Amino acid sequence: MERETTFVHLTDLHIGRPGYEDPHLFSDTTATLETILEMVATISPKPSFIVASGDLTNRGDIESFGELKRIMGALDIPVLYALGNHDTREGFYEGFLEQGEHSSAPYFHDRVIDGVHVIALDSSIPGQIGGNIEPEQFAWLEQVIVTNPGLPKLIVSHHAPAIGNENEFAPWRSIRVEDTQRLADILKGRNVVGLLSGHVHYDRVSVWHGIPVVIGMGQHAATDILQKDVLRMVNGASFAIGTIRDSGLTVSFVPLPSDRAELNRYPLDFLRKLNEGETLAAE
Ligand SMILES: [Fe+2]
Repeated sequence: MERETTFVHLTDLHIGRPGYEDPHLFSDTTATLETILEMVATISPKPSFIVASGDLTNRGDIESFGELKRIMGALDIPVLYALGNHDTREGFYEGFLEQGEHSSAPYFHDRVIDGVHVIALDSSIPGQIGGNIEPEQFAWLEQVIVTNPGLPKLIVSHHAPAIGNENEFAPWRSIRVEDTQRLADILKGRNVVGLLSGHVHYDRVSVWHGIPVVIGMGQHAATDILQKDVLRMVNGASFAIGTIRDSGLTVSFVPLPSDRAELNRYPLDFLRKLNEGETLAAE
């Protein structure tokens, strides 16, 4: 019988700090995540692992990571985490991993689970919206990508590779173009069955140099993709169930009910300046 490995893809959990009225949170992300974890518990066959591809918290502080740890602590399924632009490395290391010391090192790691080689990258750039891959991380990736050559590889990165032109994919929405090209060069021909991402808050599938790139809407808010001149956020959340077979990857999206009511609007110029670090201190 053909081998099958089932997993769950979560992203953009945006867990808030307990007791703090966050004016930029817009939805009860703790309730959404708890609802989704109840749904995950019903999946058959039981998932071998869960991937959470960044923006684990909304503010990146230690208390929010503690809350994430509390919620995810109820699971009996291994979870592989990646960091996003809303997270901080320091908050994650201290609040979630409880390592007790402030480290600003990127968090990248790999693990073989149930016949799948999962490689989690850290595409976050501290203080910016957009993504990159640092040289030391590329060097590490070049080493691990050639290990376990017989196993399918699943890449996790909060930011997806850059695809398309400037109008469609502004710089803050992806891994920067130069790093995208280098990533493609490293991953090509390495039995990568998929790359899981988030960040842009809508469900999207692309085939990029032959690799399926799957973005989840996530568990926070949805981007209205019909609005191109402004970033309009509406109610919406989803998660995804993935299956890896010898023949490749299947991903099924599980959307939660939504009235798609507007939550907020961000002018694109504002985001461009934010990405350049001009107004970040005021936010
Ligand atoms: Fe996000």
